[in-house]
Amino acid sequence: MSGRIPQGFIDELLTRIDIVELIDGYVPLKKRGREHMACCPFHSEKTPSFTVSSQKQFYHCFGCGAHGTAIGFLMDYDHLEFVEAIELLAQNLGLEVPREGAAATRQYDGDDYALLGKAAEFYKKALRNHPPAVDYLKGRGLTGQIAKDYALGYAPAAWDALIRHLQDSATAERLCRIGLVIKTDDGRYYDRFRDRIMFPIRDRRGRVIGFGARLLGQGTPKYLNSPETPLFHKGRSLYGWFEVRKAQAKHDSVLVVEGYMDVVALAQYGVCNAVATLGTATTREHIQQIYRNVHEIVFCFDGDRAGRSAAWRAAENLLPEFRDGLQARFVFLPEGEDPDSLIRKEGQQGWSDRHSRALTFDAYLLGQLQQELQIVGAGGRAQLAERAKPMLRQLPEGVFKSRFADELSKLVMVSSAKLIRMVGAENAASTKVEENRLHVHRNPVRMAIAALLHQPQLALEADSSERLSTLELPGISLLVEVIEIIRSNPHLSPASLVERYRDSKNYQHLLKLMQWRPLDIESGNLQPLFLDVMAVLERKQLDQQTDRLLQKARQGGLTMHEKCELRRLLHDSSDDRKLQDPVHPDS
Ligand code: UTP
Ligand code: MN
Repeated sequence: MSGRIPQGFIDELLTRIDIVELIDGYVPLKKRGREHMACCPFHSEKTPSFTVSSQKQFYHCFGCGAHGTAIGFLMDYDHLEFVEAIELLAQNLGLEVPREGAAATRQYDGDDYALLGKAAEFYKKALRNHPPAVDYLKGRGLTGQIAKDYALGYAPAAWDALIRHLQDSATAERLCRIGLVIKTDDGRYYDRFRDRIMFPIRDRRGRVIGFGARLLGQGTPKYLNSPETPLFHKGRSLYGWFEVRKAQAKHDSVLVVEGYMDVVALAQYGVCNAVATLGTATTREHIQQIYRNVHEIVFCFDGDRAGRSAAWRAAENLLPEFRDGLQARFVFLPEGEDPDSLIRKEGQQGWSDRHSRALTFDAYLLGQLQQELQIVGAGGRAQLAERAKPMLRQLPEGVFKSRFADELSKLVMVSSAKLIRMVGAENAASTKVEENRLHVHRNPVRMAIAALLHQPQLALEADSSERLSTLELPGISLLVEVIEIIRSNPHLSPASLVERYRDSKNYQHLLKLMQWRPLDIESGNLQPLFLDVMAVLERKQLDQQTDRLLQKARQGGLTMHEKCELRRLLHDSSDDRKLQDPVHPDS
């Protein structure tokens, strides 16, 4: 494994990147007062509740509670891993990501992407040296150019061809971790893919993350896929996505098909906007990924039972993502055909004719419901209305939803207003729950931490943090730690401060406090508030210390030094400097 990314570098990134600019590149923001706002990209809504704060370098959605730093945004929005998000931010700034102890570890390990890339190269070479595999691909109508574009390869028919090829770069154990090798119960290793055509699966940046592998002839399983690994998640990956994005300027629509061969065959016939799920259903994440790049998805399913149920699952995941301005269509192929076989038979023209007859999303949904109505009979209208309710509930507000409700109401013979009302009431109830979730009980420690999260530099004015550490109060050690971190890194932004806690048990707590907005914290001038709260804590510490010493005195065990201290403490508290308690003003 490569070394850790130094903390200082992450701080620097978060200081130099502007979260407003970053997010604005994905979700156009509008300035409102001190905040920048948009409709939340993480849930569907009509009025904006997604806010980005330039001062805190933090985003927060009042609707769904999504929140985080620039790093968190890229992780959630672009489905990047932590390190990938760092790399992307660094790339934007033209910086190289440094690694701790990099020189010492790199030589032996390299990184996992590089290894998968090497494996793909190995399979590609092996294809050239194995005429039956080349003949198989030719037999399926592919040219050398398309094989090259999709980096197709061949895994030799040996148990350890890959292990031996990569033995200088990686241990079998490590190849096992990235899904290329299998370990037997008695601890021996062998190549996962043998005597198969290899389809490398690349991430959006073109790095190989896994493989699909097809037998050259008959047999089972026809396809083998890489297992889920730290780099490869089927629910997030789409075969052919990198190739489509490369040519993205040319497309405003992406075609989702079921098979590897379909993607490649379509490309061979000039249809270069196809991607395939990896032997799994189309997930919500797939759909989000595509809609970030184009406004239309055309789902293309085989006409058989499996294809119809795959379509239905895709539709279910599409519902919550289907905002106005987006489009979706469904193409169903005749039984026994798939895109690969059809485009061969009918050519590009026939293919685009089918395309233009595709069902729109509402037509597809209504068609499905109508079919069910035929099954349950006219008496089943109420049942059908029940069935349609969750669909309406999931659809984002907008023109599509109200049109769909209209059509639905004709079908089930309930007025559309009533339908919407039935669903709307339940919607409202669930939003309330979300809003109430951010309930923070007010206490001085939390107030102090929240103030620091808004304005870290306040810590430089807290001169009592060492003494505070002896205070017995929940959360005090976190407060002291936060103060110390800021004191040794005085330019830390709120975002960098929170990022330091990403792996700590306090992370969620800090995020919550970051979003907590009691009026006095919102009001802007935090310095007096912070100093007051710190004074209250200091007072508490003095009281505790006094009690401790008094108790010890009763047992007769005070040292000379402690006696002096107690005398001073008692003198101080009799000074009657009554402090305004900003936390409980009337106590
Ligand atoms: P298909 O059986 O429709 O494959 O499975 P295909 O793409 O038409 O294959 P060819 O034309 O016979 O070569 C569709 C997808 O389902 C997954 C694969 O992702 C495949 O592309 N699948 C299928 C598996 O994962 N394993 C299998 O054994 C079969
Ligand atoms: Mn096929």
